[in-house]
Amino acid sequence: MVQQQRETWATRLGFILAAVGSAVGLGNVWQFPFQTGANGGAAFIVVYLLAVFLIGFPAMLSEFVIGRRAERNPIDAFARLGHRNWKVVGVLGTVSAFWILSFYSVVGGWVIRYVLGSATGAYFSGSEAYFGAIAAGPEAVGFHAVFMALTVGVVAFGVTDGIERSTKLMVPSIVLLLGGLAVWAGTLPGGAAGYAYYLSPDIDALVSNLGSILPAAVGQAFFTLSLGMGAMITYASYLGRDDSLPTDGGTIVILNTFVGLLAGLVVFPILFSLGIDPGSGGLGAAFITLAGAFAQLPAGRLLGVAFFVVLLLAALSSAISLLEVVTSYLVDNTDRSRRSIAVALGLGIFLLGVPSAFGVPILAWYNAVAYNLLLPLSVLALLLFVGWVDAGDAVAELRRGTGLSESGAVAWLWFVRTVVPLGVLVTLLLGLQSLAV
Ligand code: PFF
Ligand code: NA
Repeated sequence: MVQQQRETWATRLGFILAAVGSAVGLGNVWQFPFQTGANGGAAFIVVYLLAVFLIGFPAMLSEFVIGRRAERNPIDAFARLGHRNWKVVGVLGTVSAFWILSFYSVVGGWVIRYVLGSATGAYFSGSEAYFGAIAAGPEAVGFHAVFMALTVGVVAFGVTDGIERSTKLMVPSIVLLLGGLAVWAGTLPGGAAGYAYYLSPDIDALVSNLGSILPAAVGQAFFTLSLGMGAMITYASYLGRDDSLPTDGGTIVILNTFVGLLAGLVVFPILFSLGIDPGSGGLGAAFITLAGAFAQLPAGRLLGVAFFVVLLLAALSSAISLLEVVTSYLVDNTDRSRRSIAVALGLGIFLLGVPSAFGVPILAWYNAVAYNLLLPLSVLALLLFVGWVDAGDAVAELRRGTGLSESGAVAWLWFVRTVVPLGVLVTLLLGLQSLAV
């Protein structure tokens, strides 16, 4: 192993914003509103919020505990903590990061196209035709390459100069732009029906659809919090300080949830003001629907640019965390420069993503494998490790730098041992069912 001074975050806020940048992504701004639409509106949000706070938050703290204690990339972290055999869990997370970034970047390429298309009005004459034209084919490969290049560009500069500095700009921009859009959306005639749909849960619908709502909500909670791919392990490994993990984690979870809800406050009034059904979800449908809406609105170009820039910043700040997972492994283990490592990995991930850029069904399959298999499996293994194998040290690590009582930390531990893995197991089984179809 190469011994060199390992990088750390310059400030506590820098770590928090980088983690929020990882969490806030296509999952919040794009998938969450439409998943809410497809699952019956506010009822889905209730289950989602429970999943985020009762299942996602304790799981995030588990990743933080591993990362900060080991001060290593996810693969070497387990050996560092004295459990060499559990290395396979880190391998699973790192492979998942590589896999997910490959198609996440293809969608990132679409987003760049939608920023440009908004500015030029290219999709104003036909939203569906535009998506069909840009989603798959040589051009989609090209913009996938552009998005990967941007991601590599940030990661190559390192933890503080690349990731910390860029996310400190990107995250506040996302919040400001999205907030402005939400205020504007509130002025749309007929938009109020969107709030009603979005914010008043239909409990009957919730109860009768719980079997499908539950796995969707739990899966979304993990994805949105960037869990199961080593990202939060990696980011916490650069802490090098005794900050309060529960406070930082709580801040990150709340900010991430806030941005997701804010995105809904933009999307739903827009759709309802135009009488568009929010239930028409699906991978590309969200783009078609929203772009179609912008095309009908006054100042639609400007709004389209603002919205898709938000989406681009969100996607980019998530993509860099995925690339950093894999990069950190090679930085820790070779004496090649971070720059050449990031470029080489970017190239490999780009190639893995090329099939997804040639067909939306292929992309959907990559996504389903990650979402329904890699992600829950990886989270489950991680929880078993923290909850049962490394429990004593994990409790001590959670309390380090906090006023958290022993009993508070033990309550967390029992969540990690019972409720959280059960939630994951249910999701995994129901999700696998959907893969088999
Ligand atoms: N949290 C990101 C989103 O909601 O779009 C996706 C993501 C990024 C998942 C990084 C996992 C990860 F490690
Ligand atoms: Na997110």
